[in-house]
Amino acid sequence: MQGQQKTRWNSRFAFLMAMIGSAVGLGNIWRFNYVLYSQGGGAFLIPYITAIIVMGLPFLILEYGVGYHLRDSLSNILKRIKPYLEVVGWFILLIVFLILTYYLVIVGWDVIYLALSFFKGWGADPNMFFSNNIVVGGDDLNSITSFVLPMSLITILLWIVLWYTSCKSIDRIEKIVKSLIPLLFLLMAFIVFYSLTLPGHMIGLQALFRPKWELLSDPSIWVAAFGQVLFSLSMGLSIAITYASYLPDESEITGNVVAVAFSNSFFELFTAIGVFSILGYMSLQSGLPIDQLATSGAGLSFIVFPQVFNVMGNSAYILGPVFFLCIFFAGLTSLISLFETMRNALSMKFGFTRRKSSTILTIFGLVISLVYTTGSGSFILTIADAFLNNMALILGVILQAVIFGWMYGVEKLIPAINKNSKLKVGKTWTAVIKYILPVILSLLWICEVIDVITFDDINVLIIQIIIAAILIIAPIVLTKLPAKDENSTPKID
Ligand code: PHE
Repeated sequence: MQGQQKTRWNSRFAFLMAMIGSAVGLGNIWRFNYVLYSQGGGAFLIPYITAIIVMGLPFLILEYGVGYHLRDSLSNILKRIKPYLEVVGWFILLIVFLILTYYLVIVGWDVIYLALSFFKGWGADPNMFFSNNIVVGGDDLNSITSFVLPMSLITILLWIVLWYTSCKSIDRIEKIVKSLIPLLFLLMAFIVFYSLTLPGHMIGLQALFRPKWELLSDPSIWVAAFGQVLFSLSMGLSIAITYASYLPDESEITGNVVAVAFSNSFFELFTAIGVFSILGYMSLQSGLPIDQLATSGAGLSFIVFPQVFNVMGNSAYILGPVFFLCIFFAGLTSLISLFETMRNALSMKFGFTRRKSSTILTIFGLVISLVYTTGSGSFILTIADAFLNNMALILGVILQAVIFGWMYGVEKLIPAINKNSKLKVGKTWTAVIKYILPVILSLLWICEVIDVITFDDINVLIIQIIIAAILIIAPIVLTKLPAKDENSTPKID
């Protein structure tokens, strides 16, 4: 049966492209540059690099080591450690699933802009266009019953694409990431080099990198750096555990982790140079200062960039499509990693074939995604994103650091990690996982909780309660459902 078949990457290159594909996503293109700009400029690089060294690399080595050594899905691995921990595994996998459902809709927005970019179809006022056609409805739940039809259709299409990518074997995923990721780097290189030829680019770059050293003593830039690294490296969601569980026996671990983290950071820094050069050009053309142009997320990609393309003349017909294509490639490869992680967990527990688990996931996922394509969709999406990405995700990382560090005994992974790796881990790494990460992340988590939870707006509260309820109930149900074969998950001693 296919679900039981051993899946293995065909080459190290395929594995690396899949991992880089997961890490490089919207966060690298539309989030990092604004965080860098608004959190101290050049000075931000200090907390950023610290966060990579103290948290990113050690935790990814843990995830790779767990996947490679124990070769199972997160929920099964936790069950093998202690049966009552299975529910924690499903809790984290539910976060994966819920992130997948809205991340896909954002990629859908991008598909619309990709099509529009060939004829600047957003018109003279991209701001109005965005709110009239994409984020229809206000900051409440009143428009939840009407669908924004183009968005619903694209959402259905994207779910079909994901289903098709995953339903047969790992080969399709390999093919896609092996072509899209190198292409993404090439296209982005084109954007960056072109942007450096634009007049005014230095205005943007100076604004981006001008260091504000005094901010280093402000905890909020440290919180921002750890948050960015956590999100950008797709940490804590057991994506790396899943992908590493397909590694052949002779694979090395630490070298791959360093390669992925380096590529991810390189890509986001490089992209930031392109984005801010373009904003510098816009500043020169429009007379607006950078701080009125710089923004992150959808505002940057779907409002400010279309405004730039509007003033750019004919080269915008090349630069625009290339820019939205980059977001699409980066987003799609991240979606594939989210899908594969949840799909694998279903197959591993219930013995489903790839096809069956892909189909079940697609049906449930599509239903939830469609909610984000209603008139109130973008309002719900913003709240879901803040709730899941900041709060739930950090909690998931803390739980894993504690479970693997203390209950499993992280020392047990060292021989497997070091077996084929040139860069070895030892006592320092163990101490980071057991002591440093839980402490730092708990502090980070408290900051986020204070930030996210609000009792001011009843609509926001309702959505948060619904998400929290799903995150509690669904894992319990999935844990209670009988596994295909209880003996297929032997206990770890
Ligand atoms: N790392 C991705 C990005 O930078 C986002 C992501 C997070 C993707 C979690 C998958 C899982 O956009």
